[in-house]
Amino acid sequence: MQEKLIACLTGKIGPGLKGIGKRGTFTVNNNKVTDESLKTWIENGDSLMPPFKDVIDDNQIKDVIAYVKTL
Ligand code: HEM
Repeated sequence: MQEKLIACLTGKIGPGLKGIGKRGTFTVNNNKVTDESLKTWIENGDSLMPPFKDVIDDNQIKDVIAYVKTL
């Protein structure tokens, strides 16, 4: 899990999240980046990204959101 997360967050698998907080929009769908939209995204994933709602709990999702916004 930890390794997968790092791979994804650095863009080895996913699109790379650097600057997503500053940019303010998702690359994939142009949605606005908010705590709420990030939470929904991380919980549910999409056709290319696995959902995390059964993998990490609410508090961990909050931590991940806070971290993603610093990238
Ligand atoms: C908790 C860990 C993860 C977080 C916080 C996360 C976050 C995100 C976010 C915010 C996006 C949208 C980026 C954008 O549109 O600019 C994204 C896209 C994506 N992620 Fe992740 N991700 C995680 C784990 C993973 C893992 C483990 C994989 C693959 C095994 C993955 C694969 C992808 C892919 C392929 C996309 C692009 C989806 C598309 O083009 O439709 N992610 N991720």
